[in-house]
Amino acid sequence: MYRSHNNSELNKENIGQEVTLSGWIQKTRDKGFMIWADLRDRYGITQLIFDEDRTSKEIMATAKSLGREFVVTIKGKVIAREAVNKNIATGDIEILVSSIEIINESKTPPFTIEDNTDGGEDIRMKYRYLDIRRQEVREKLIFRHKVSLEVRKYLSGEEFIEVETPYLIKSTPEGARDFVVPSRMNSGEFYALPQSPQTFKQLLMIGGMDKYFQIVKCFRDEDLRADRQPEFTQIDCEMAFVEQEDILNIFENLTKYLFKTVNNIELQEFPRITYDYAMETYGNDKPDIRFDMKFGELNDLAQNKGFQVFDDQELVVGIAVPGCSEYSRKQTDKLIKWVKRPQVGASGLIWVKCLEDGTYKSSVDKFFDADALASWAERVNAKKGDLILVMSGDTRKVRPQMSALRMEMAETLGLRDPKVFAPLWVVDFPLLEWDDDSNRYHAMHHPFTSPKQEDLQYIESDPGRIKANAYDLVLNGNEIGGGSIRIHKKELQNQMLSLLGFSQEQAVEQFGFLMDAFQYGAPPHGGIAFGLDRLVAIMYGQENIKDFIAFPKNNSGRDVMINAPSAIDDAQLDELSLKVDIKKEEA
Ligand code: AMO
Repeated sequence: MYRSHNNSELNKENIGQEVTLSGWIQKTRDKGFMIWADLRDRYGITQLIFDEDRTSKEIMATAKSLGREFVVTIKGKVIAREAVNKNIATGDIEILVSSIEIINESKTPPFTIEDNTDGGEDIRMKYRYLDIRRQEVREKLIFRHKVSLEVRKYLSGEEFIEVETPYLIKSTPEGARDFVVPSRMNSGEFYALPQSPQTFKQLLMIGGMDKYFQIVKCFRDEDLRADRQPEFTQIDCEMAFVEQEDILNIFENLTKYLFKTVNNIELQEFPRITYDYAMETYGNDKPDIRFDMKFGELNDLAQNKGFQVFDDQELVVGIAVPGCSEYSRKQTDKLIKWVKRPQVGASGLIWVKCLEDGTYKSSVDKFFDADALASWAERVNAKKGDLILVMSGDTRKVRPQMSALRMEMAETLGLRDPKVFAPLWVVDFPLLEWDDDSNRYHAMHHPFTSPKQEDLQYIESDPGRIKANAYDLVLNGNEIGGGSIRIHKKELQNQMLSLLGFSQEQAVEQFGFLMDAFQYGAPPHGGIAFGLDRLVAIMYGQENIKDFIAFPKNNSGRDVMINAPSAIDDAQLDELSLKVDIKKEEA
């Protein structure tokens, strides 16, 4: 009744056929005696034509009344188009309409539903269902579907089983903040929404599932950024009887498979670097290796030469920015200003121009002669024509500052091409991370990550030194996946929790179920979780994940369309034992 074809199907071969089409009126052009309308659905656009000579008066009148986004069903004959439109699949034909039914009228939409819309982000999010009618948004959701489908195909082919784990679970103190859900039946008690199915997937390994995966929603109450949403999706995986090497191989192959089937790109073998190397070389544990600009540490070359800014600093580090030796004073001043912004927080920046004639010009000429500068150039791998940028200070601060500058220079020089893909594994993460605020160690990944066997000896004496069997998959400067080989023995898990500051009681209260389970024949196991939103966005050539989520939250964590979160009424609060008795409080 509604359609014989969709709006991208008809072409020259259908000329002469009578067809029925349905969809939305994207726009109309009214020349009085002739009216054209673009009819849109998910598949594409077909042009309708109404012509005074060939169309009845009644239908002409209806055509004139069509507004943007009206829903119509038409019948008509496929005819050849005079002015062919090469940009759309149906560009050779149009439909001479012989009957039209307006199924639903539409208010004038708050923004134009076309590729180049006039709607800003706020308004598009408020009317997200209209935004989704736009080809650009729709294509991203379809792209996401393709990636998910291929993930399921690949992992099912490797004998992984998709198992659903619960969303109403127990709050845990580690990691990000939990979203909590009050329980009506258990007054005063709360569930938490999972930050990940971590413990459940480990229990599935103890349950003998052997290979598990799940495309699963995770919830984290953390501050939002372009690559973070409070609810996001993981491709969560776990395997039993595996070592790190097995996991890296399987999931490198999954990534290659996805790029091949979805993007038609053959990825080469992923480089593997250690966490320490990543920090030394890129100042960052998720380096973008589409470009070089590796760090060169200059302490031995630049300290104790009379330049006090460098002396006594923990780290003096430089990078060579390709082809920028001709930067003007204005440009270098701008860079200095850039690194001093609070977002970067550096105290300053030294520059050295490696001129084409083999000489050097620097902001520290008074302190360093040509030989000294040449030694820096060699250390940072600078060539003639490059600009060396140097910073100094505490290692923990300077590395991220230099890393930010490296990314900024790459952005300026157009070296972050979104259609170039540079994946790598970062391995050998530290097990623990010291936190000054809470004055204790935190797990760098999570408390279930196993320490490297050879580092277990430091567990009492120097825990900060222990490396973990943990790895991240990094793509174009983004962490798209992370995982580890897990602890599978009760004693070690207990020891780990106590290292993280859990009392024996707290450990049992929080994770007793897992440690109990370890006593019933837990196999060695490990896994990984990919951030699906991030993976999809990057594969598509973008970094903002919001566009790849049908109904995302804004930067304040709100869904502006349904206006959530929102207050709930007193009766509901009461039922959940959440009603605050103000009089009682005041008393
Ligand atoms: P992790 O916390 O590293 O590991 O998360 C895995 C991946 O999920 C993505 N991710 C996010 N994506 C969007 N918005 C967020 N707020 C967000 N937070 C994380 C990232 C990240 O690499 N259970 C462990 C995995 C394991 O050990 O197997 C875990 O959740 O791409």
